Amino acid sequence: MPLITVIPGDGIGPEVTEQALALLDGLGLDLSFDVLDHVNAGTFLATGCALSDDDLARIRRSDGALLGAIGDARVAGTRYARDVLLRLRFELDLYANYRPAQLLHDRLSPLRDPDRRAIDCVIVRENTEGLYTDIGGALRPGSTAEVAIDTEVSTHLGVSRVIDFALASATRAVCMVDKSNAVPNGGRLWQQCWLDATAARPDLATSHLYVDVAAMRLLSDPTAFDVIVTNNSYGDILSDLAAELAGGLGTSASVNLNPQTGFGLYEPVHGSAPDIAGTDTANPIGAILSAALLLERVGHPAEAAAVRTAVRMAVAEVRCTADLGGRLGTKAAGEAIRAALH
Ligand code: NAD
Ligand code: IPM
Ligand code: MN
Repeated sequence: MPLITVIPGDGIGPEVTEQALALLDGLGLDLSFDVLDHVNAGTFLATGCALSDDDLARIRRSDGALLGAIGDARVAGTRYARDVLLRLRFELDLYANYRPAQLLHDRLSPLRDPDRRAIDCVIVRENTEGLYTDIGGALRPGSTAEVAIDTEVSTHLGVSRVIDFALASATRAVCMVDKSNAVPNGGRLWQQCWLDATAARPDLATSHLYVDVAAMRLLSDPTAFDVIVTNNSYGDILSDLAAELAGGLGTSASVNLNPQTGFGLYEPVHGSAPDIAGTDTANPIGAILSAALLLERVGHPAEAAAVRTAVRMAVAEVRCTADLGGRLGTKAAGEAIRAALH
């Protein structure tokens, strides 16, 4: 029986995770759960460590993990996110961050032109390198002469494997996004790996955009994209943009994946939303669609499809939270999706 580790986390994390778990429970599948309730900012504040080596070992023994959100104003500016979320991504080598964006309902698009609303793309974000490696330092910290350095790391292995994953995920087209006109070394490496990998895939439409123009094109015509592959930072930013074009940040799902081991850390794209935490207003759809991504990869693709259909039905009937124009709270919105499943 597949064992899923659950990390509800902070803020709205536990609220949306509760709805994702209720939905999974209701499917009556052969899944069991190991809930790590203590991996949160409170534990970090109390002990200085929110994710212990033992926790990591438990997660490694499981078949996948579901995470709510990590983040709390009380630990802003500390190593908290690094020690939990980034540690999981790095130590489990979850190098492909797969973030699909498909328009949930026409009324949710912020675009005026109906012909350009139907975004249906995936952002494949490199997830273990770039600006996130914590290599750098500060000279004369705290002084007015301070120099702060964060190194952007790209390796041949890291870039080529995420490009390979993106090409393997695509059926139509892949666009590689970089900033090689301004970032000479990493830019050259991304360009070289891209050239080498695409030579073997004449069946796909392949293209390249600089990240500034990619952001503009995502807004002017999101239907132009199928798969976008890019580095860690650009993928972070473009995936929030794509999420908003698809219906809203609260609806966006993701998996941090190691395609070789098959291990995935499934989480909504949004954060802990402290501005609405505890008010029963958070949209549970990002967490629920992340659970659907999990179902797909642990051998239940039919159930994953049914969950997606149920989400679409609930949204179409405006049985959803206020960010999507509805009047339901988090719990009631989760319940509406479960009801649409039956
Ligand atoms: P955020 O995604 O938490 O919130 C941005 C805005 O979107 C807020 O106005 C919030 O209310 C709204 N929002 C987000 N999720 C929503 C939902 N499900 N339903 C309705 N509205 C929703 O981003 P932020 O405010 O920049 O970050 C808050 C904290 O979360 C920070 O500590 C940040 O580091 C962390 N964070 C964590 C993750 C993660 O765990 N993967 C991702 C992003 C941010
Ligand atoms: C995300 C988040 C994280 C990131 C933060 C919380 C470190 O924004 O998962 O998109 O930048 O990767
Ligand atoms: Mn982000």
